[in-house]
Amino acid sequence: MESITLYPAFSSIGSILIGLWILSAIRKSSRLSLPPGPRRLPIVGNLFQMPSVNHYLKFTEWRKIYGALVYLEVFGSPVLVLNDLKEAKELLDNRGAMYSDRPRFVMAGDLIGWDKTPVLSPFNKNLRYMRRLMALTIQGKYLEAFRPKIENACRSFVIQFLDEPENLIKQLKRLNGTVVLDVVYGHEVTSNDDALVAASEKSVEDFGAAITMGVHAVDFIPALKSLPTWFPFFKFHSIAQRQRSNLYNATNKPVEIVKRQIAEGTARDSFVAKHLQETELDDWEMEMLKRAAQNMYGGGVDTTTSVLTNFFFYMTLHPEIQLRAQEEIDQVTSGERLPDIRDRDKLPYVNAIFLETLRLGPSVPTGLPHRLVEDDEYKGYRIPANTVVYANIWDMTHNDAEYPNPDVFLPDRYLDPQNPQTDPRSMIFGFGRRICPGKDLADEISLLTIAMTLATCDIRAKVDGEGRYIMPTPDFAPGLICQLRQWEYTVSPRSEKHLALIQSYA
Ligand code: HEM
Repeated sequence: MESITLYPAFSSIGSILIGLWILSAIRKSSRLSLPPGPRRLPIVGNLFQMPSVNHYLKFTEWRKIYGALVYLEVFGSPVLVLNDLKEAKELLDNRGAMYSDRPRFVMAGDLIGWDKTPVLSPFNKNLRYMRRLMALTIQGKYLEAFRPKIENACRSFVIQFLDEPENLIKQLKRLNGTVVLDVVYGHEVTSNDDALVAASEKSVEDFGAAITMGVHAVDFIPALKSLPTWFPFFKFHSIAQRQRSNLYNATNKPVEIVKRQIAEGTARDSFVAKHLQETELDDWEMEMLKRAAQNMYGGGVDTTTSVLTNFFFYMTLHPEIQLRAQEEIDQVTSGERLPDIRDRDKLPYVNAIFLETLRLGPSVPTGLPHRLVEDDEYKGYRIPANTVVYANIWDMTHNDAEYPNPDVFLPDRYLDPQNPQTDPRSMIFGFGRRICPGKDLADEISLLTIAMTLATCDIRAKVDGEGRYIMPTPDFAPGLICQLRQWEYTVSPRSEKHLALIQSYA
């Protein structure tokens, strides 16, 4: 009874206290300053200081002036760059509930529909379900079911590469495309003009064009979205319509084929077949399955190709590292078989070459942008809601406090039992609730290709007229993904015996 009469008084004192607390929090938060960053111009902010390509180089320059957190604004939209692993882990991992959304892309998302697929999806129920489907198929122990497909494709790549040493990058793309399409749809790529590869490549091209900021006025002025489709001067509606239809076909057609194959009893094991056969999917679940499947080619092929291209480049520079890795492999396999994924623990030096490859040329150097959904405070700074957050992965993997001599390819840095340096896989696949869902698949394809290549091939720089090696310098093409351009190398089997060994798997 007493408590009932006391309740209104308690409640009004409580309201006053809460009110005071809110007021003080507002005052405190408005007293807090934004993180440091380059000076902003009125209205456009840092627009003219933002590079159009290779953002990581500019971000790294800014880190030297402003530190681990760099704050920018473009037309009033806040952007935060995290240059340090510690800050990325604290904000993107530990505070993942706030930092896992994606920014809005009007052209790519609202108009074409990429925001319905994992890569640009807001952090919502759809995304959680799509990521769960991927986790149950291509991560951890579930990936084992696909190991024979991966091993086969890696062996075929090495055989093909020895046969036709030109066009390394094209062949690596084919390797990764073959694995991803086989794992996702059970599709076998048997020719260079495969229709599903062509459609998937078109999707990647469309996506790249749609998310390139500055190309479509509608990304800067979203209100243009409401212009009628016939309105002159602006082409974005017709481009969006065409790309929406491409995306629809790329999402639906391959799954329809798998459904037909299941009905005919000819479906091969795959991500799509597994989920269609294991559960009765309702319409929403079916839609999620299609969208998750669609995104994997785009997420997996160019990234893994960039990693493996880097491996071949570093090996061109370092024959002595190849020799040491070959000795290690020979001790495990006696030269009688190819190494496989189960040998990983017995091949620490080969594994260290793989890690160093990932570190020195991280495939997605600024990761993908996350969006903060509510106001936050960190280290005495205010970080406003809607801030778009980039992790400068390039800078993290080149940080000389973490990795002494960061520009040198040094696999031994991971092998000192007293002081092993940080595994770059804790950065290069992104962070928190958006961490790359294909990381285990990428890890297996890359490690296997590296181990099989080292086991059987010698990669060397080209030799000039006087017998001297012509050492290439790295030349990265600009873009979201750090892809080396082709350079000159030679490749040959380590011996007749090694050639016979790899060919015995054909
Ligand atoms: C070495 C190879 C790879 C690298 C370096 C890489 C890197 C990344 C990074 C940095 C992100 C963004 C994470 C974030 O937002 O914090 C990402 C997202 C993603 N990756 Fe990968 N990736 C690789 C391979 C793959 C593979 C093999 C697949 C699938 C077969 C894949 C599918 C995806 C998808 C679907 C997303 C979007 C996830 C989301 O937004 O929730 N990736 N990847």
